[in-house]
Amino acid sequence: MSNLFSSSIGKKLIMSVTGLFLVLFLLLHLSINLLLIFSEEAFNEASHFMATNPVIYVMQYILAAGFIIHITWASMLTLQNRAARPVKYSNNDPAENSTWSSRNMYVLGSLILIFLFIHIFNFFYKIKFSEVENDYELVTGTFRIWYFSLIYILGFVFLGLHLNHAFHSAFQTIGWSNKIWMKRLKIIGTIYAIVISIGFAIIPLFFLIPELF
Ligand code: HEM
Repeated sequence: MSNLFSSSIGKKLIMSVTGLFLVLFLLLHLSINLLLIFSEEAFNEASHFMATNPVIYVMQYILAAGFIIHITWASMLTLQNRAARPVKYSNNDPAENSTWSSRNMYVLGSLILIFLFIHIFNFFYKIKFSEVENDYELVTGTFRIWYFSLIYILGFVFLGLHLNHAFHSAFQTIGWSNKIWMKRLKIIGTIYAIVISIGFAIIPLFFLIPELF
């Protein structure tokens, strides 16, 4: 069992399982947030339900643990890989053998983490710890400020690039590396990454664009 946590493949396995859990969270989070575009009442109701339901309350701790484990293991794995190979292969052309996102997963993950800190402070922290009367007003008011919308859209671009590589890679680590399925999973991963990044980006743009013109 201790091997699972200390070996390189064990760490990757834990990252895959926590990553796939976060993949599901993002789909749920996107569905709820898209309500912002359609109805103030529906969004406020959903947001109130998420903030007060005891099952969701417990899920939030599991979610936080998922994020923390995913980030900690990613850092350990990156440091371990760097220590194992401090000098790059001389006859290896990275651009030819791998995608940009696959080589920069840790950088993309770190940028998403910075986005997440800003995001948690903007919404989650304010809703939980200060007297916010209307969650819809808080969120849409934030997106009407151009630099907040810009930070969010950049966050969604980094997230899309990260997910595009992460999705099939997680299945590969779990052992689903059959050639035909790998091709299919890569396509599903790309569609998923596009839906998530464009789906989220529509929300700030919907509130910002009328402010600009
Ligand atoms: C337009 C995009 C987004 C909007 C409008 C949005 C909105 C919100 C709101 C209102 C909350 C507070 C919920 C509450 O406490 O009642 C929240 C929490 C949270 N958001 Fe987002 N979010 C967006 C994108 C994202 C993305 C891309 C991620 C992940 C990379 C993310 C991760 C989280 C997390 C981890 C929490 C805290 C847990 C929770 O309350 O569910 N959000 N978000």
